[in-house]
Amino acid sequence: MTATPSPTLLILNGPNLNLLGRRQPEVYGTDTLADVEKLCAETAARHGAAIDLRQSNHEGQLVDWVQEAREHHAGIVINPAAYTHTSVALLDALATCEALPIVEVHISNVHRREAFRHHSYVSAVADAVIAGCGIQGYAFAVERVCALLAAR
Ligand code: DQA
Repeated sequence: MTATPSPTLLILNGPNLNLLGRRQPEVYGTDTLADVEKLCAETAARHGAAIDLRQSNHEGQLVDWVQEAREHHAGIVINPAAYTHTSVALLDALATCEALPIVEVHISNVHRREAFRHHSYVSAVADAVIAGCGIQGYAFAVERVCALLAAR
């Protein structure tokens, strides 16, 4: 008997999130991206899923990875970071992933910050948006993607 492969969720992180833990800790906290990876992996494992966490400072790279997810991943958790507020390219790429659950995460509460952070291009194609929960928001997002997959 062959085992069913675990669904793999793409956990995508945009610019400057490689510096998580050192970058404005008063805003983003002291946990690192490695901590986020561990948290997401543990949360996904409880639902029989696996994760593939990636980070890039480059918009085109993020677009390429979203396109790859259409073929290779079961769902997407995305913190687009600054590209949230600027990237039509990322919106268009995510819009091609109609078959995948997509949850947008922000570590900080973007709505309590500068006005330019209040608009997200990505939210238009996200099934859910989580902001202001610190890195715990990633765990909530993984939970939600798994719940959406289970409901299918
Ligand atoms: C962020 C919020 C964005 O406005 C900002 O550009 C980031 C991180 C967050 O996780 O709170 O880089 O997405």
